[in-house]
Amino acid sequence: MTRSLPAWTYHNAEFFDLEARELFAHSWHLVCHANDIPDEGAYATFEILRESIVVVRSQGTFRTFHNVCRHRGATLVDGPTGQLKGKFVCPYHAWSYALDGSLLSVPHRTEFSGLITAEHGLRSIETETFMGFIFVRLSGTGPSIAEQFAPVMAELNLYQFEHLQPLGKVTLRPRAVNWKQIADNYVDALHIPVAHPALSSMFAGSYRNEVVGDLHRMSGDLKTDRKSTGSANAYLQVLPTMSHLPDTHQHRWLYYRMWPGLAFDIYPDQVDFMQFIPVSATETLIREIPYALPDNRRETRVARYLNWRVNRNVNAEDTTIINRVQAGMGSSSFDSGPLADSEVCLIDSVRRLQALLPVSTLAQEPAPGTVATLNTEMLAAGTI
Ligand code: FES
Ligand SMILES: [Fe+2]
Repeated sequence: MTRSLPAWTYHNAEFFDLEARELFAHSWHLVCHANDIPDEGAYATFEILRESIVVVRSQGTFRTFHNVCRHRGATLVDGPTGQLKGKFVCPYHAWSYALDGSLLSVPHRTEFSGLITAEHGLRSIETETFMGFIFVRLSGTGPSIAEQFAPVMAELNLYQFEHLQPLGKVTLRPRAVNWKQIADNYVDALHIPVAHPALSSMFAGSYRNEVVGDLHRMSGDLKTDRKSTGSANAYLQVLPTMSHLPDTHQHRWLYYRMWPGLAFDIYPDQVDFMQFIPVSATETLIREIPYALPDNRRETRVARYLNWRVNRNVNAEDTTIINRVQAGMGSSSFDSGPLADSEVCLIDSVRRLQALLPVSTLAQEPAPGTVATLNTEMLAAGTI
């Protein structure tokens, strides 16, 4: 039987620094959808772990740079989205950069003796556009987004992600918990009937969780409950037929999680993209962006509103839960707990983190100042 990660990994600052360096710095992050930045020179920003990143549309493609001027390091543009007039201009001393990142002009150029213009373009970042969504990776190698989603493309293609339009603004919801509490809870199946009774009664036993390659897939098919007067029931009654979906997916709520902190919530009426952005060992931002295919039917608009109401309640229920677990993991009485065999996504999460950071197999919290060294030693010894 697999046990959960030890509790100390959910509040230890040194372990958090390891995760930042060894995991999040090499992971894919979503910035936006191509339709968020529809015009030449339109840009979107993204912040994670002291890094500020800007994606700009230029000649039908997307380029990503560190949002940092090469002169004195000022951040160049402010987010979440904006529009450039043909170039970046730094607000500090007005160095300017073309949309391809090259340094265009330097005021008082002759005073910068020895400055090589070609060596002072904006620093670029790896970018991948996947079904209209723009992802970035600060460093590292490994599978692309397309490779990771390859096993589920038959299902994803149904939803026509390329044609999604932004439905609202990016929201950042702070949570006073470790990022793993949110990520774990996202894939935890056994809490659904207990913590989300209204949602669970609508799923009527259809909720499933599975590991598909690199992905965690969860789904439930909503059923009308004639006794219920809640928003979920009203949602089902008003939700019109979606012509782009087969019968199997007309009432399906579908969730994909990509390691470590990315998630798509895929509904018949809209698609929400969610990220769990680590801030510190006990602080996380949930970054969420809703999208939908163009559909102005009144019933669709009402369904989206009811969907929001259902999920507002689900989020409130989950917030209570994750706060409770974060608090309990601070107790000296708890080190780790058993995971049910059916919790395949939770088990996969534990294995992935322990393979990357073997120090997380230690039940006891290491002494201060030793977490990174122990991890290096355990990696060298092939502990996992
Ligand atoms: S810091 Fe950007 S121009 Fe000086
Ligand atoms: Fe939940």
